[in-house]
Amino acid sequence: MNLDFSDIKVLLIGDFMIDHYIFGTSTRMSPEAPVPVIIPEKEYSIPGGAGNVAMNLAALGADITCLGCVGNDIWGKSLLSILENKGIKTEKIEIIDNYPTTLKQRIYLDDKQVTRLDTEKIINWKLDDIDTRNLVKKYDIMILSDYNKGVLNFESFLINIERSYESRLKHIIVDPKKDDFSYYTGANIITPNLNELAKATTIKIHDNQSIVAACKHLIEEHSFEYIVAKKGDKGMIVVGKDNFIKHIDAHFVSTPDVTGAGDTVISALSLAYAQTNDIEFACNIANAAAAIAVRKPGTNTVTIKEIKELLAK
Ligand SMILES: Nc1ncnc2c1ncn2[C@@H]1O[C@H](COP(=O)(O)OP(=O)(O)OP(=O)(O)O)[C@@H](O)[C@H]1O
Ligand SMILES: [Mg+2]
Repeated sequence: MNLDFSDIKVLLIGDFMIDHYIFGTSTRMSPEAPVPVIIPEKEYSIPGGAGNVAMNLAALGADITCLGCVGNDIWGKSLLSILENKGIKTEKIEIIDNYPTTLKQRIYLDDKQVTRLDTEKIINWKLDDIDTRNLVKKYDIMILSDYNKGVLNFESFLINIERSYESRLKHIIVDPKKDDFSYYTGANIITPNLNELAKATTIKIHDNQSIVAACKHLIEEHSFEYIVAKKGDKGMIVVGKDNFIKHIDAHFVSTPDVTGAGDTVISALSLAYAQTNDIEFACNIANAAAAIAVRKPGTNTVTIKEIKELLAK
């Protein structure tokens, strides 16, 4: 199995965020409110949202350029420096004044999460259209990591992407969050979870048959090549044109931490598909990668070596 993704040039567009973790202890209650006074002992930040996709792509060895925005604050700077340290290109991430970097802070007391503090402001991000059209030509694949924070808002963006002979761009792969999938028209592959799928269709999702029916309908409606429906610990179903249907069972993990599993799926799937053009192979790689990711606590990345080891079992 040749899984060398180092030649694959990826343009990753999406909502970049940062997750900050604070672990502390407490010896007393606050005199101000019935809450413990926590003394931090360890803290660290890791990229979230599209940032986690970038980290996953980097762990798999691809060449990544990010497009999106952060705020002109300590969190934005920290996020860019973590990405850059992994060799991820961030020059096309716009640093915006008077806009807060999307941040999730989790506070733990004796290893138990006690609260989460979210900072976010939905932005109406604007991107120069002509520039983008030229830019996308230089990449093999384009990944959209939509978390509905406003980077992906410009109208009919994908439809206008040219894939002519002078362009390297072969595939557009989307992790959706919007209820209306018409926004993603022009994408080759879209990877909703069951929740996202249910919101995008009027068909009631209750079993594999209804999942397939909903996917077929959405493919017809929006001309996708494939929908990869993620079913959590039940694995995934891949549906394509011409009655293409594949059921892929999960490598079941009994106590999973599913945070960021979807980011691992789109990363591994995109690279394996770019390399082979084989959707079933790509989904098998992604399904294995996700099983490894959910075995690890928190948002996580996976290596090619780990994927090979799992598939060799
Ligand atoms: N318990 C599990 N054991 C093995 N694999 C799992 C388990 N849970 C999830 N997976 C794998 O992770 C993939 C993605 O999980 P899920 O369907 O929860 O996606 P998601 O909702 O997009 O994730 P996220 O929470 O990151 O948004 C699944 O298709 C499956 O391959
Ligand atoms: Mg998801």
